[in-house]
Amino acid sequence: MKFAHILLKNSSRFNIPKQVDRFSKFSPSPLSMKQFIDFGSANACEKTSFIFLRQELPVRMANIMKEIDMLPDKLIGTPSVQLLHTWYTQSLMELVDFLEKDPEDKSVLRKFTETLINVRNRHNNVVPTMAQGVLEYKEAFGVDPVTNQNVQYFLDRFYTSRISTRMLMNQHTLIFSGSTNPAHPKHIGSIDPNCDVVEVVKDAYESSRMLCDQYYLMSPDVEIKQVNSKDSNEPINIVYVPSHLYHMLFELFKNAMRATVETHEHSMHLPPIKVRVSLGHEDLTIKMSDRGGGVPLRKIERLFSYMYSTAPSPVTHNARNAPLAGFGYGLPISRLYARYFQGDLQLYSMEGYGTSAVIYLKALSTESVERLPVFNKSALRHYQTTIEADDWSIPSSEPKKLGKYDYSEPDVRTESRVK
Ligand SMILES: Nc1ncnc2c1ncn2[C@@H]1O[C@H](COP(=O)(O)OP(=O)(O)OP(=O)(O)O)[C@@H](O)[C@H]1O
Ligand SMILES: [Mg+2]
Repeated sequence: MKFAHILLKNSSRFNIPKQVDRFSKFSPSPLSMKQFIDFGSANACEKTSFIFLRQELPVRMANIMKEIDMLPDKLIGTPSVQLLHTWYTQSLMELVDFLEKDPEDKSVLRKFTETLINVRNRHNNVVPTMAQGVLEYKEAFGVDPVTNQNVQYFLDRFYTSRISTRMLMNQHTLIFSGSTNPAHPKHIGSIDPNCDVVEVVKDAYESSRMLCDQYYLMSPDVEIKQVNSKDSNEPINIVYVPSHLYHMLFELFKNAMRATVETHEHSMHLPPIKVRVSLGHEDLTIKMSDRGGGVPLRKIERLFSYMYSTAPSPVTHNARNAPLAGFGYGLPISRLYARYFQGDLQLYSMEGYGTSAVIYLKALSTESVERLPVFNKSALRHYQTTIEADDWSIPSSEPKKLGKYDYSEPDVRTESRVK
């Protein structure tokens, strides 16, 4: 009853097409890295991919549109979120159109690829647009902890959904556009079946170093080591999307460099950033350690919040000018990339010394399976959180005077218990 009431109430906030309700009833079907590879190798079939995507993309989009509708009214009311909603609606309708089309017709397949490219381009600015909406909302209304928690929960899911739909669209358009990537003939779409992890670490370091040099006129060195127990001269390869790995490492390098330079501004020598790469039976682990002064434990979780950055808030249309730090999206989005294929990203810090950021990826392609948000009753429950008293004591800054020399006031709790 309550569920129906909420849907009824919310569905009036947008003009939601019936298709959203229809497709949100299906759960997304996660693919493994191995399935992505099979879809794109020798027996790749454009027709099969088309039949899968014309259903799966609307399902993933409709699921997340239902969650957009769960956001606080005032956030939905921002022009940015309204704009996002029109993009999603239009893309969903364009994709659903293909359900009636004949997969045997070559021109249908061609048209579908064109549509995917249009949809992808339409959604290019989803992240800054959503960020702008959140910023406007935060500035206008402030944020209480519950809203913060819900918005955080939503954004993690919303951005994951976007990473996943882009992955699907990229695979189809890259594989079936008829031309292989001359720079990477062995890649399958955006996946490198032999992704050389250390090479990606080096690329990410170089790009970050260039930015750091431009901005601070200095940059720390890097020391990279493979530390697996087996033959450590063999390159460490995994099946992965190099652009995703590069994204995470680039963000971590920018943070490590900023912290290192700002902490050692007045010294002659910058301590190097140390990177360790290890391949085990289950995990591929990359640890990046800096000596940039660290972060207190109390603040670590906050660094993954979309509402937090210690860098000056960038003006949206000028965001590119903020070279090493901007919206405060570097860490949370990188963690989503890691989690998308069942990995993770964690920070360990020693305040006063430095920070280690660790990326965990699955070593086996059969275990790298997409992790996708599903709109169901448990998701709904998250958005209905109400403010409740904390079930752990909260330290007060002014301790109560209840020492053995304090007889002035009786303890109220003891008094009422006696009565
Ligand atoms: N290695 C580190 N050492 C010290 N502080 C760090 C480190 N990494 C992150 N931080 C802190 O965490 C905050 C959030 O980092 P995050 O990368 O998410 O955002 P940002 O760097 O502020 O902006 P951007 O979106 O451009 O990355 C930073 O502003 C910084 O205060
Ligand atoms: Mg950053």
